[in-house]
Amino acid sequence: MKIALIGYGKMGKAIEEVALAKGHEIVLKIDVQNNHEFTKENIQKADVAIEFTGPHSAFENVKKCIELGVPVVSGSTGWLEKWDEIKKVCDEHNGCVVYSSNYSIGVNLFFEVNKQLAKLMEPYNDYDVSMVELHHTEKKDAPSGTAISLAEQILSNIGRKKQWVNNPSLTPSDLVITSERIDPAPGTHTVTYSSAIDTIEIIHTAHTRKGFASGAVLAAEFANKKNGIFTMKEVLGL
Ligand SMILES: NC(=O)c1ccc[n+]([C@@H]2O[C@H](COP(=O)([O-])OP(=O)(O)OC[C@H]3O[C@@H](n4cnc5c(N)ncnc54)[C@H](O)[C@@H]3O)[C@@H](O)[C@H]2O)c1
Repeated sequence: MKIALIGYGKMGKAIEEVALAKGHEIVLKIDVQNNHEFTKENIQKADVAIEFTGPHSAFENVKKCIELGVPVVSGSTGWLEKWDEIKKVCDEHNGCVVYSSNYSIGVNLFFEVNKQLAKLMEPYNDYDVSMVELHHTEKKDAPSGTAISLAEQILSNIGRKKQWVNNPSLTPSDLVITSERIDPAPGTHTVTYSSAIDTIEIIHTAHTRKGFASGAVLAAEFANKKNGIFTMKEVLGL
């Protein structure tokens, strides 16, 4: 498979390593200094584009890939207020986009555990639920996209929580997400249900970026020659 990398930072480089090891070819690498090379002719040499840039540029990059007919796997976080627009563009162009706030297989299994635990905890009002996410200091957005996904899964299942907040709060209907930034943590997410009697906690800790990169390459293999809007749930058949 021929892959275009849009964003050649920590993730772009980790994805390149995994993709080459699996026998794929990197036909284009776009970063800020060679953005002018992100042309129709160049991008269409790729079967799939993998986009890991950041919150400020993801929307334009993903939209451009769809408009130019190249399936795109995006991992950039912090831009999902534009997601409905992307869905519209994708429908209009019969395109293909895969999005996940976290491509690691372990986190996607953790998402399923989180949903299941929230369903179990729903009737037990004595437990308050809160979350902590820990990342490296270069991370630009807070809370992490993964924390937002986990929070939304909890809000869909725990009726007594109405919204997530990224600051301390004593309002019982707030789901508090605490963001901590400590180097070199690739990412830890903790969901805690606490009562006066006991605490139930689930934790996912990423040890390296390789898990995200392997999942992103798997998603690119899935997206090749497909049309539609997908998440890791479909990629992994969960
Ligand atoms: N979904 C996941 O599994 C997952 C995992 C890790 C990181 N992320 C997210 O992916 C994004 C990138 O993470 P990273 O750790 O590689 O960051 P990074 O800062 O190391 O790399 C981003 C790269 O994108 C480049 N860039 C910025 N704007 C660009 C543009 N307009 N066109 C082309 N390149 C551009 C930057 O110069 C940089 O080299 C972040 O939003 C991060 O939160 C997602």
